[in-house]
Amino acid sequence: MTESSWPQDRRITVRDLQAATDRGERWAMLTSYDALTAGIFERAGVRALLVGDTAAMVVYGHDSTIPVTMGQLIPLVQGVARGTRTALIVADLPLGSYQGPAERALDSAACYLKEGGAQAVKLEGGQAVLPAVQMITQAGIPVMGHLGLTPQSVHVLGGTRRVQGRGSAGDRLLEDARALQEAGAFAVVLEAIPAGLGTRVSEALSIPTVGIGAGGGCDAQILVWQDLAGLTTGHLPRFVKRYADLHDVLTRAAASYVNDVADGAYPAPEHCYT
Ligand code: KIV
Repeated sequence: MTESSWPQDRRITVRDLQAATDRGERWAMLTSYDALTAGIFERAGVRALLVGDTAAMVVYGHDSTIPVTMGQLIPLVQGVARGTRTALIVADLPLGSYQGPAERALDSAACYLKEGGAQAVKLEGGQAVLPAVQMITQAGIPVMGHLGLTPQSVHVLGGTRRVQGRGSAGDRLLEDARALQEAGAFAVVLEAIPAGLGTRVSEALSIPTVGIGAGGGCDAQILVWQDLAGLTTGHLPRFVKRYADLHDVLTRAAASYVNDVADGAYPAPEHCYT
């Protein structure tokens, strides 16, 4: 699929993503949490944007994704929707919004489309979430699955740094992926699993796999944008590639501003009204 094959005058749909995958084109996703970055990423060719529950950490300052609520995420989804014209917007269902009765999951998903302006939702887990996936997709709402390292289960997994799916766990993950596809999911995120397993799952499924630490055999890739742009610092997962050092750029810009204010160099005459 070439650049011109992607719609320029309407939102990309899950069918466009499937068509690109069927033609062997690898496509990119990023997270986004606001209108400005969403527009930049769309113009850069990012086909689908995830308003991830990582907002808990990169927007709201928590140390895990667990505390964030739909009430906090919906305004971010709205911003991303307003800032874009063609990107498919996937809204992440936070912990507690889709467990329990499948009707609750449907209500949450519908809310993201009706109030947020998203076109699809994402949820974490395998067998346990199949009823939710079925109910949401049967209502006409596209669902993206998420397997491997599922950060909402950090207390069961024993940390968010552990590679998942090694040994016989890989067979179970493959079964979960197949079950999600069977339940109607349009794509599956594979996070922090061995590259070989990422390839195995991708070859076994007809729907796209979206890797984040799952190797180059996946159909698509996703990163948290603050990781890609080098805003986040400290020990980052092995799969993160920093394409810029915005942390340094912003620090230096802010420090220059502070100095200019202290020195009286800002505002200069050209910044003043007459
Ligand atoms: O919430 C998120 O940002 C995610 C991605 C890391 C896939 O789930």
